[in-house]
Amino acid sequence: MNINFTYLPGDGIGPEVGAAALAVLSAVAAQFGHTLEAEDHLIGGAAIDAGEKPLPEVSFGSCHRTGAVLLGAVGGPKWDHLKGADRPELGALLPLRKRLNLYANIRPCKPYEALLDRAPLKRDRLEGTDFVVMRELTGGIYFGKKGRDADGAFDECRYSEPEVERIAVIAFDLAMTRRKKVTSVDKSNVLETSRLWRETVERVATRYPEVELEHLLVDAMTMHMLTRPTHFDVILTENMFGDILTDEASVLCGSMGVIPSASLSDARDDGKTVGMYEPIHGSAPDIAGQGKANPFAMILSAAWMLRLSFGLDAEATAIESAVEAALVAGDVTGDLGGSLSTSDVGAAIAQRLTA
Ligand code: NAI
Ligand code: MG
Repeated sequence: MNINFTYLPGDGIGPEVGAAALAVLSAVAAQFGHTLEAEDHLIGGAAIDAGEKPLPEVSFGSCHRTGAVLLGAVGGPKWDHLKGADRPELGALLPLRKRLNLYANIRPCKPYEALLDRAPLKRDRLEGTDFVVMRELTGGIYFGKKGRDADGAFDECRYSEPEVERIAVIAFDLAMTRRKKVTSVDKSNVLETSRLWRETVERVATRYPEVELEHLLVDAMTMHMLTRPTHFDVILTENMFGDILTDEASVLCGSMGVIPSASLSDARDDGKTVGMYEPIHGSAPDIAGQGKANPFAMILSAAWMLRLSFGLDAEATAIESAVEAALVAGDVTGDLGGSLSTSDVGAAIAQRLTA
């Protein structure tokens, strides 16, 4: 098969973890007899520095055409002075998600056995943790009207019923393939959007009598995630809450550098479902350019791309097994207690795939 995808390295550690992921993809493609066709394009600060808009049309066009996107991260202090849609996050990341209709963002939290003693939580509390956060990605406060006026500043939060319904359906469908439990997280004691969220989720739940549904308020959820992480199966939540809760979840897994994500659309008119795959972490300016970034999240995101966009399950599993083997062998970066560089970790995993 020709694996044709769009590669957007982006900013900060994005190109570093991206290079490691490309090395791993090349190895797995060679091993399984595929060809790799990565369309490399600018996004974010890198595009701005090249005199382009944060999301150049040629970059977007490639994403739209290939329907499979591997993204590093965008943004950093260098571009913080820019305003509104001139910024990498507001001008590139959010429009890319919106224009590709990538409303379903899936983020797993299943700590590796080899990392159970590295997390700040005690092993006996963590053992058995295996949940997935289903984060709504194209609505809510990030996409609302924002601005400044005489009184200060405002950010509007909106959700429509169909927007809530479609992500709830994906969460319940996923729960049916797992332990049949959905925890919906909102702030319905104060937010009207959360009241609509809860009502809609309740309505969707009636179609899934086998699935147990519970609701938690987001503030309490931050506590439950740390005190009883094994309780959860599928966590369904809106855009900003999901963003915040998954950074918290990364602590359970030992590092920001180990959690991949997939953002998916419905099938388009041409029958194709678009997928964008990226680590949950950002551009990590504090460690950029030093070879310290952990590439696992990016490599695992590439594995998800193979599985979900190309149907290459054996290839994805081979990468996931190689990552786990590298972890067990201690072939890891400093955040996981190792001494390898980003590219050395990529090479160590690629080598396991070709051995
Ligand atoms: P961050 O996720 O980039 O970094 C948070 C902390 O985790 C830092 O101490 C960093 O060194 C560490 N870290 C992150 N990834 C790591 C990795 N792979 N290996 C080892 N350590 C890692 O979040 P921060 O610092 O708040 O944001 C930096 C920039 O990234 C901002 O401009 C932000 O807007 C942007 N960002 C972009 C995202 C995207 O493009 N999807 C997502 C999150 C943030
Ligand atoms: Mg985030």
